[in-house]
Amino acid sequence: MQCRENKQFGFVHGDICDARLVQSLFRRHDFDLVVHFAAESHVDRSIVSSGRFVRTNVVGTHTLLDCALNAWKSSSADRRFHHVSTDEVFGSLGPADPPFTETSRYDPRSPYAASKAGSDFLVRSYAHTHGLPVTITNCSNNYGPYQFPEKLLPLTIVNAIAGEKLPIYGDGGNIRDWLFVEDHCAGIALVLKHGRLGETYNIGGGAEMANIDLIGLLCDELDRRFAADKSLAASFPRCPAASGGSTRKLITFVKDRPGHDRRYAICADKLAHELKFHAETVLADGLRRTVDWYLNNERWWRAIQTGAYRDWMKKQYGAALTGSNA
Ligand code: DAU
Repeated sequence: MQCRENKQFGFVHGDICDARLVQSLFRRHDFDLVVHFAAESHVDRSIVSSGRFVRTNVVGTHTLLDCALNAWKSSSADRRFHHVSTDEVFGSLGPADPPFTETSRYDPRSPYAASKAGSDFLVRSYAHTHGLPVTITNCSNNYGPYQFPEKLLPLTIVNAIAGEKLPIYGDGGNIRDWLFVEDHCAGIALVLKHGRLGETYNIGGGAEMANIDLIGLLCDELDRRFAADKSLAASFPRCPAASGGSTRKLITFVKDRPGHDRRYAICADKLAHELKFHAETVLADGLRRTVDWYLNNERWWRAIQTGAYRDWMKKQYGAALTGSNA
């Protein structure tokens, strides 16, 4: 069933920094569970301008915490505030370093990561000082349907099928651990039900890969798709695969992201041991499902490519995507 068809579902378009609005929602609904996903999340945007990141991620989290504390002060029994965070708070790993655990030292290195670290600390402080019943999860790189095409994977897919260049920062050797979004949600759902209050759990995909290798896989997947389904060439004639070429030829190395973290890797043993969680989606399947989704939902991502999106692309990549390919 679609969420919107569920009678218990309600959507409020608001700002998490708006304390009056958030308070009124707590009064109206007597929430017993808050799952805090809201964030400004794109590292590159935080490098260009970080004020919104501090506002939403730090002030917004503080507002939610305060409202929960006030609403639950008479009794916090059977209540829970769950905070969704990121592995980026732990900084960057060397090639031989062990993966991040829940007790790794915080070492955020972008304004985005610093704002998420600040929000994690606020959540922990409300648990320690005020006894607010909280849990936190720190995840690795998500991918899957409905991801905004500013992140590496959806950006690559929509550019590739439109025959546009695929920007790879630096030497493409930066490593991320890829987590299919449904696995992330399954991990969060388990923590909501059975996670111990006051605890932090890492959620990883167990799929570390260098960006250049990942983008290569994605290009090969598109080539296979176009070879198997000739109707795709009619829908997306500008993709090199439409005329039997290799999508890899769109790969373009561009100027590196300032302060670009080299490697993230997650140790998710705590979640595996305590709650028996394992990410089920292997990377090849997840990529296939993601490519499928973007091929079948052109209307969704075309609607995003408005003026504001085009301005961002121009500001972020400038002439790099109109120059020659690698
Ligand atoms: O690790 C979890 C984090 O993953 C989340 O907390 C962040 O909200 C999310 O944005 C993501 O951060 P990354 O910076 O790793 O994701 P992004 O998709 O921006 O980049 C993934 C990698 O690809 C990174 O090494 C930078 C590189 N990249 C990214 C873009 C947008 C490129 O080479 N070219 C690009 O055009």
